[in-house]
Amino acid sequence: MGHFFMIKSNKIVEEHIVTRVENPSPGNYFITFQAPVDLPEIKPGNFAEIQVPDAPDVFLRRPFSFLDVDYEKRLVSFYIKVIGKGTKKLAALKVGDKTNLIYPLGNAYKIAEPNSKVLVVGGGSGIAPFILLGKAFRQNNIEATFLIGGRSKADVLLTKELEAFGKVLSTTEDGSMGEKGMVTHHSVFKPNNFTFDKVYTCGPDPMMKAVGDLATNAGIPCEASLENMMACGFGICLCCVTPTHEGNKRVCLEGPVFNVNYLKWHN
Ligand SMILES: Cc1cc2nc3c(=O)[nH]c(=O)nc-3n(C[C@H](O)[C@H](O)[C@H](O)COP(=O)(O)OP(=O)(O)OC[C@H]3O[C@@H](n4cnc5c(N)ncnc54)[C@H](O)[C@@H]3O)c2cc1C
Ligand code: FES
Repeated sequence: MGHFFMIKSNKIVEEHIVTRVENPSPGNYFITFQAPVDLPEIKPGNFAEIQVPDAPDVFLRRPFSFLDVDYEKRLVSFYIKVIGKGTKKLAALKVGDKTNLIYPLGNAYKIAEPNSKVLVVGGGSGIAPFILLGKAFRQNNIEATFLIGGRSKADVLLTKELEAFGKVLSTTEDGSMGEKGMVTHHSVFKPNNFTFDKVYTCGPDPMMKAVGDLATNAGIPCEASLENMMACGFGICLCCVTPTHEGNKRVCLEGPVFNVNYLKWHN
């Protein structure tokens, strides 16, 4: 009970209405909700716990990074990739449907120094926080390169939107878009090209580990946003912990964004 009021005091816990649903490729959805109240500040990397409506077999809320925010219209949008029961139900939401959201949760990416040069690497649903990151880069005059990896062209989303914030590169395993192969084999990682002040990554763990290694070996600081499975989403249940050099940390509270050298999975 105490925890509930603690959350209520500085977080939004409100029913939101669906205002837009897009389905850019099979299994991938962009869903926009309108909040009934003014939005709090939402930073790149923050996430929301979204209740899955009309799904008695999906008891727990599901965590999703913010894709975009419109403070004036009180709109928050999310990229939802269908992988199981909860995401399938959320993907079936229609304009006018309602569900309850809690946010903003978690920490945020630290924005690099103004006028610096950064690389942002993502795959799968990990690309969701990149629009808000791009907006923060633009505000700080940061030169950004986004590298998006996927199995094929249909998995490489948001390239048009990200072009507003920097250069966009891609890889696909079947060669249908960008360079053929895994994201970490892209030519941007060749020593002469890999000259960035900071690297950001979000996506499947093996990809983030590989990106973290490449950055660390090149002496470039790197932040990764983990997508561990979660239950409560605000630090109580401990089901999301990740081992770090300072003990186990809750990805939902001390994360989801960590410096890769802080994470034990990195070594
Ligand atoms: C901080 C954070 C931000 C996230 N942001 C996004 C986002 O922007 N867009 C998006 O599409 N997804 C995002 N995710 C992942 C998303 O929360 C899960 O895909 C979702 O909870 C799965 O729910 P489900 O009911 O569909 O799957 P379930 O039915 O619960 O699970 C289906 C299968 O997927 C596995 N699984 C479930 N969750 C995860 C996970 N997090 N990592 C690895 N395997 C998992 C299960 O073990 C099971 O095998 C994020 C996760 C976190 C922690
Ligand atoms: S999800 Fe409960 S502590 Fe992180």
